[in-house]
Amino acid sequence: MEGYLIWIFFSVYTICLVLGSECIFPLDWRGTWYQSRAVIDISVNSISRKGTCIHRDGNRFLVLNKDHSNRKCFSCLVFTRWHHNLLQYKESNCWYEDSLETVCGHINGDALLHTLVKVPNIPEPCPFHGSYTFTYTNSTMSSQQCNHPVSEIRACADESRFKFIFKHCPGVQGTYNQVLDFKCVATWENGEKFLYGVFSEPWMTQDEYRYRCFMHSFYGRNGDMSMSADATCQGLQSTTLGAVSMSLTRVIRPRSTCTFPRYLANQNKWRDLSGRIRLEVDAGLQVLRFKDILPHGTFVHSDGPEVSVSKLVLRCIHSVGQSIIDFVTDFFTYYTNDSCESGYQCLRVIKRDENVIELYMGDSTNNTEASCNYEQSTKYILIPDRNDSVPCPTSQKGIYMYTDKASDCSGKVDIGCTNDDEIVIETTCATMTKSVSIIQCLQNWRLEEKTFLITKQPGHLDNPSMCLTFIETDFGLEVQADNYCEGDRWIVKKKFLNYLLYTPPDNCPDRTYVQSDQHTHSDGFQNDSKVEEHTSIAAARTSNVFILACVFIVCSLFLIR
Ligand SMILES: *[C@@H]1O[C@H](CO)[C@@H](O)[C@H](O)[C@H]1NC(C)=O
Ligand SMILES: *[C@@H]1O[C@H](CO)[C@@H](O)[C@H](O)[C@H]1NC(C)=O
Ligand SMILES: *[C@@H]1O[C@H](CO)[C@@H](O)[C@H](O)[C@H]1NC(C)=O
Ligand SMILES: *[C@@H]1O[C@H](CO)[C@@H](O)[C@H](O)[C@H]1NC(C)=O
Ligand SMILES: *[C@@H]1O[C@H](CO)[C@@H](O)[C@H](O)[C@H]1NC(C)=O
Repeated sequence: MEGYLIWIFFSVYTICLVLGSECIFPLDWRGTWYQSRAVIDISVNSISRKGTCIHRDGNRFLVLNKDHSNRKCFSCLVFTRWHHNLLQYKESNCWYEDSLETVCGHINGDALLHTLVKVPNIPEPCPFHGSYTFTYTNSTMSSQQCNHPVSEIRACADESRFKFIFKHCPGVQGTYNQVLDFKCVATWENGEKFLYGVFSEPWMTQDEYRYRCFMHSFYGRNGDMSMSADATCQGLQSTTLGAVSMSLTRVIRPRSTCTFPRYLANQNKWRDLSGRIRLEVDAGLQVLRFKDILPHGTFVHSDGPEVSVSKLVLRCIHSVGQSIIDFVTDFFTYYTNDSCESGYQCLRVIKRDENVIELYMGDSTNNTEASCNYEQSTKYILIPDRNDSVPCPTSQKGIYMYTDKASDCSGKVDIGCTNDDEIVIETTCATMTKSVSIIQCLQNWRLEEKTFLITKQPGHLDNPSMCLTFIETDFGLEVQADNYCEGDRWIVKKKFLNYLLYTPPDNCPDRTYVQSDQHTHSDGFQNDSKVEEHTSIAAARTSNVFILACVFIVCSLFLIR
């Protein structure tokens, strides 16, 4: 019994001690950190390998630890937080007195500065942009400079990455041909400018090879940068004196003499129909950025699989030609892509509607004189990156009977009747299975006698959108679906849906009669690979309908007389 009381007393005492001391680590310090050759965990009030915090004064922490003979001792840690991904600290020896002032006073000016980098971490934009050439000295091996051939730093589409291309200089020790992807993790200034980052090469299995610290300074087109020998920032004496020192010269990028069409700035952000690419337009209208839309909730790890946010950057170099009437503009652009390659690329921009833009990307070339050809181009259809559906096209509104040209199914299509912005498809197949699917209308436009309608399945924005093409024919309204609005080329590569809607449709009934108790599921578009086989069957059905309609009309005329 007494044992219990003592135990409870000591527990309460310990809790009071911990709470009373108010020694807790800031919220954004807690978690896992890498320190050269060690992994450190910071919790509410303790730090692994160092001990439990007893007292705190600003950035000074007194921690309780044990010495070699298991005797209690106290050490002082003085932290500096330079960046949310990076902490540095100095540490005292372990002393047998518990006064923060005294123990912290024992830290010498020349105590080692330790660096902690957060893992995992979200990359940080690098402190310099563009591509560079450089010469370097690997002081660990030689004092000779490697300047022939010159090495390179290549810009990547994503501004938190670049690529080092180290060259081997014959006769200079410690120089090798190496291509190394690099990601910036933290930048800070402390009199000098610093960069901390990680080489993301798959063969670098040990963190100690991957993390490096840099000191840098840039002036005009030139710069100096020194690199540490390990994952600490120790040994960087100046921008020209480190384990490896580089002398850099910026590669001049071609000058931009044009701006992209103003309507691209109507929307803050655009996305393509696949739901995987987002387009951002810089305020000056000179730069387009294609970014990955990462699946909802994805965290960008520095040491996870390679995930770039920016995939491609296009800078406007000059405008090639413009046709104001049909809103087609051609551009010559300078690209930087996800493989950190740069060059020229032709780009055609077509405005289909305020909210619909088509982009065609031609081949890339080295040559500013290249002529643009869009035969083999990649097409993107861009719509505003928003969640709103819009009313379905009023010209198509109504309830239609339809046959599916690709199967033995048929049924009813309700465009915009039940809901302004929805298409409800009721399908009955030969096996008597019934299903209802719902798709939402996004954007639509007309081109000659065709109506294009971009739709999506209800749900998250990441779902791919579909493009429906409505074509008026003698038999009725043909509806085809694909991913690229290719209905205008008459060569539909991959049809997901191929319906014939019988016209004229019934007008929308009064809303009160609309039944809403049906079992609905949105399995969406059917996967049809047998489209062609069924065309003749559909045609036969259509002619039957025509005969019936004619008999009906003739009979009516006869009765009226
Ligand atoms: C410098 O030399 C060391 C020892 O050979 C080597 O491990 C390191 O990769 C070299 N650094 C560069 C940037 O070439
Ligand atoms: C980047 O451009 C180069 C050269 O045009 C090309 O070979 C490479 O496939 C491109 N990389 C990506 C990811 O698009
Ligand atoms: C582009 O230039 C590089 C060297 O500058 C060359 O190796 C490459 O073959 C060129 N590519 C084209 C498509 O001309
Ligand atoms: C978009 O709307 C759907 C429901 O209509 C919702 O579940 C989803 O979270 C929304 N997405 C965004 C990005 O707002
Ligand atoms: C359609 O079905 C075929 C075979 O069942 C499959 O290989 C293909 O990936 C499917 N396509 C789509 C878009 O679901």
